[in-house]
Amino acid sequence: MCGITGYIGTEESKEILLRGLEKLEYRGYDSAGIAVGNKDGVHIYKEKGRVANLREAIDSDISAQIGIGHTRWATHGKPTRDNAHPHQSASKRFTLVHNGVIENYMMLKSNYLQDVHFQSDTDTEVIVQLLEKFTEQGMGTEEAFLKTLNLLDGSYAIALLDQESTDVIYVAKNKSPILIGVGNDFNVVASDAMAMIHVTDSYMELMDKEMVTVKKDSIIIKNLEGEKQDRATYKAEIHEGDIDKGIYPHFMLKEIDEQPLMIRKIIRSYQNENEQLSVKSDIISAMKEASRIYIIACGTSYHAGLVGKQFMESLADIPVEVHVASEFSYNMPLLSAKPLFLFISQSGETADSRTALVRVKEMGFTTITITNVPGSTLSREADYTMYLHAGPELAVASTKAYSAQLTVLAILADVASTSNGKSSGINLISELSIIANAMEVLCNSKTEIEKIATQYLSTTRNCFFIGRGIDYFVSLEGALKLKEISYIQAEGFAGGELKHGTIALIEEGTPVIALATQDKVNLSIRGNVKEVAARGANPCIISMEGLETDEDRFVLPKTHELLTPLISVITFQLLAYYAALHRGCDIDKPRNLAKSVTVE
Ligand code: F6R
Repeated sequence: MCGITGYIGTEESKEILLRGLEKLEYRGYDSAGIAVGNKDGVHIYKEKGRVANLREAIDSDISAQIGIGHTRWATHGKPTRDNAHPHQSASKRFTLVHNGVIENYMMLKSNYLQDVHFQSDTDTEVIVQLLEKFTEQGMGTEEAFLKTLNLLDGSYAIALLDQESTDVIYVAKNKSPILIGVGNDFNVVASDAMAMIHVTDSYMELMDKEMVTVKKDSIIIKNLEGEKQDRATYKAEIHEGDIDKGIYPHFMLKEIDEQPLMIRKIIRSYQNENEQLSVKSDIISAMKEASRIYIIACGTSYHAGLVGKQFMESLADIPVEVHVASEFSYNMPLLSAKPLFLFISQSGETADSRTALVRVKEMGFTTITITNVPGSTLSREADYTMYLHAGPELAVASTKAYSAQLTVLAILADVASTSNGKSSGINLISELSIIANAMEVLCNSKTEIEKIATQYLSTTRNCFFIGRGIDYFVSLEGALKLKEISYIQAEGFAGGELKHGTIALIEEGTPVIALATQDKVNLSIRGNVKEVAARGANPCIISMEGLETDEDRFVLPKTHELLTPLISVITFQLLAYYAALHRGCDIDKPRNLAKSVTVE
């Protein structure tokens, strides 16, 4: 949540900052702002809404070689211009952007800043006002910044300008992500490497509770005790082409279409020299030693975890529990004797998951992260990491990352099973290749799926997705996709559960999308469809070759029963896409959301 950019060097900063912010808009798009410094002082431009609005508001003649930028996902205070970052101290000496949440900001206000008139409703402003207060007491900027940071509880990534020395950007980090990009005669600051890949591919990670002074030719990292820290640089392996929409109208559609190719890439990435599926032996040993695996994740990644549990239990005979990260951290279940923790996170930055990871690490347990983003916080902090190899996912609604998560979980379950000396009973490489082909068939069925979206979802206010067994878990994901981008109230339900209360919501014409890909529950889910149809619902059955009947609206190509989520989800992704398109919604940037949720 919230994206930060910073530049110090010899070029015009504003265009570099704006390009970076455009790439960070996935982190929030409630408002955007930049502050640039030159001999006349620090100049702030900020606007409600998108970076495009900010672009129009900037004085095109302004020339400055240093600056910081921000794109906001509102937490404290409405998404107004006043609450937009950057924020300034009372005398306007300090200007700052912040990502994160300062939990003790009320206490800091009342203990230190009673006499200060605040310009915004944000928690952020407390940081910049505190800093000024301490410099007024005679401290230098760095000393005052360190003192301020030591008082903050919560999460922060901060970039700061001081009007009195416009040759330095101060940066700090705790729990929220921020990187320093290294250039020749310039340096940059960014929430992720993608944002500044147009100027450098060389980056330095920061650790929690570190402070940095960034000049155009130097970077000095210190901990909050003021002690210098050494840091190596790494190369970010991102190509500008990967973050381009190409011929597609939306990133979401592009990312849906990338799935067949991506599955083949994941298979290759996890094959050894004998072309067998293979996973780091330490990970497999940890699984063998575990009495139970706990999968922890949020949103779509949580839904992938639910399917992953089926893979682990049926292929590898390992008991698995799946938990929503935000609940797990503060309401921990009784753990088994030898638990192993598996975190699933596309971004690798989700604060809820990270809090849970920190807690179980403190308890001394082994952790694995499955993520799409090398170098992300969860990948750095877990004992082991498995990558998704899905390529950057930029649409806020997750599509290809979900399929990649399922694929990596299936590979993990399969390798764990064969390493136990038993066979998983499935030739996974060949079944996944069938999946990739079936995905292609679905991606070529857009016209038909668009017709279904028009028929069922163009005008409805609500919609139910039902399924049994593994289809139920995909129904949860189908409903999430639909609600988040089309704003139709959609719920996923276990087919047998509706009659225990929720069926009261069925009215004449309510769409009920039923998934029927599992032989053993095929008749019972069809029975549930009859129950809702008898009460006026408009059912839409999506089944699978071999199980279909004349009443079905769409039939999926046949694949292995356990792996059907990988293809049924594509139908749901496309249904959500076309429903949102026909309703005129902003598909890649749905309201109130952000791609990377770095606050709890
Ligand atoms: C929905 C979606 C979210 C994320 C969730 C977790 O389309 O993308 O529900 O899945 O915010 O994010 P990660 O996987 O980055 O931890």
